[in-house]
Amino acid sequence: MNDFIFHNPDKVYFGKGQINNLPQELLQFGKKVLLVYGGGSIKKNGIYDGIVSLAKSADIKLFELSGVEPNPRHSTVNKGAAICKAEGIDVILAAGGGSTIDCAKGIAAAALTENGDVWQLVSGGAWVTKALPLVAILTNAATGSEMDAWAVISNMDTNEKIGLGGSALIPKVAFENPEYSFSLPAYQTACGAFDIFNHVLDNYYFAGNATFDLLLEMQEAVMRTVVKWTPIAMKEPQNYEARANLMWASSMALNTILDGGTVHGCACHMMEHELSAYYDITHGHGLAILTPRWLSYILDEETAPPIYRLGKTVFGVECSLEPKDGAEKTIEAVSKFCFGTLGLKSTLTDLQIDNRRFKAMAEHACMGGAISGIKCLTASDVEKIYEMCL
Ligand code: NZQ
Ligand code: ZN
Repeated sequence: MNDFIFHNPDKVYFGKGQINNLPQELLQFGKKVLLVYGGGSIKKNGIYDGIVSLAKSADIKLFELSGVEPNPRHSTVNKGAAICKAEGIDVILAAGGGSTIDCAKGIAAAALTENGDVWQLVSGGAWVTKALPLVAILTNAATGSEMDAWAVISNMDTNEKIGLGGSALIPKVAFENPEYSFSLPAYQTACGAFDIFNHVLDNYYFAGNATFDLLLEMQEAVMRTVVKWTPIAMKEPQNYEARANLMWASSMALNTILDGGTVHGCACHMMEHELSAYYDITHGHGLAILTPRWLSYILDEETAPPIYRLGKTVFGVECSLEPKDGAEKTIEAVSKFCFGTLGLKSTLTDLQIDNRRFKAMAEHACMGGAISGIKCLTASDVEKIYEMCL
């Protein structure tokens, strides 16, 4: 196990009545607030009206940026940064899923740069240490953006989708009310849930000797939570316990608590971001199509035991098999979960994606080198995995 530092300064209000604390939390930063939201779900489910009325009661002046796209565009971020500069915004309030929160993080960072252009920050790859304060209201259990230091921004002109990271991007405060996710359609619930599952699997679970038992057990608990509660949330969208378990799992998966001292991989994420950069697909769905194929591709004598452990501890695969057979059963269980239980379409062909751009996407995913992790993947490996997804 490696040495590590754990430091997550995000204050989380979790539960039903917590939103009443919103005014006092915003006011510690100032009275001019930029409310950032997406395509209108918060207007339909009443969250927007609640925010407006709380702001009014505390004499908070709300400015608005709406229409944040799933896979948020750099141009939308730049619009928000321009509002911050013009109006002297004190604090940004994001209300939505990962796309909205990521857009708000980009705005928070770009607003403090001279030209207000987020793409310059994203493509420069610098760690952001200066940003406006951000308060997040989460409506979709998925990305972990509500508690992490990352924003993923898309530039559709250049087919690039890249992470912007920095300690200054961690929200100062997050509100997590499971009821806010009651209105999520089953498809988004499934995609978000598989994103949570994959964050654990892809980032930490296969870290080999670098991890330690407590963390492995916690990682498995988060993945088991997703496997148990997602079908219930899909069938009963207003099941509070199901929504609460998924929401906290979303935050736990990426708030670095599971990350103590492990070696990071993120093969599926590197491969998926190319799919959404080129084809604008839903992130969690791309991950679900890739994950079982990736596991099959990397399966060998060395990887069979950890893959089989996943099967035994998360999917209840029988315990008496040879590692290779156990790993194969595990991969079958992952596929069954993605395409049976979650009901997601199983191939890239189903999403109207063919092999024409695989070579360019694979090269970009490897950024001129290879993707590290339990097995290093070269561009040629990545291209083969994409082919397996057709
Ligand atoms: O835009 P609105 O109208 O709000 O509708 C959204 C959107 O259409 C809808 N939605 C969200 N909450 C809802 C709701 N509909 C009804 N009721 C609710 N309560 O769901 C759709 C998808 O929303 P989006 O925010 O795009 O989904 P998600 O939370 O999965 O975010 C995905 C984005 O986050 C990035 C992804 O790549 C993608 O761009 N990621 C961010 C990460 C991070 N910051 O650390 C890590 C992840 O790996 C990921 O890459
Ligand atoms: Zn993800």
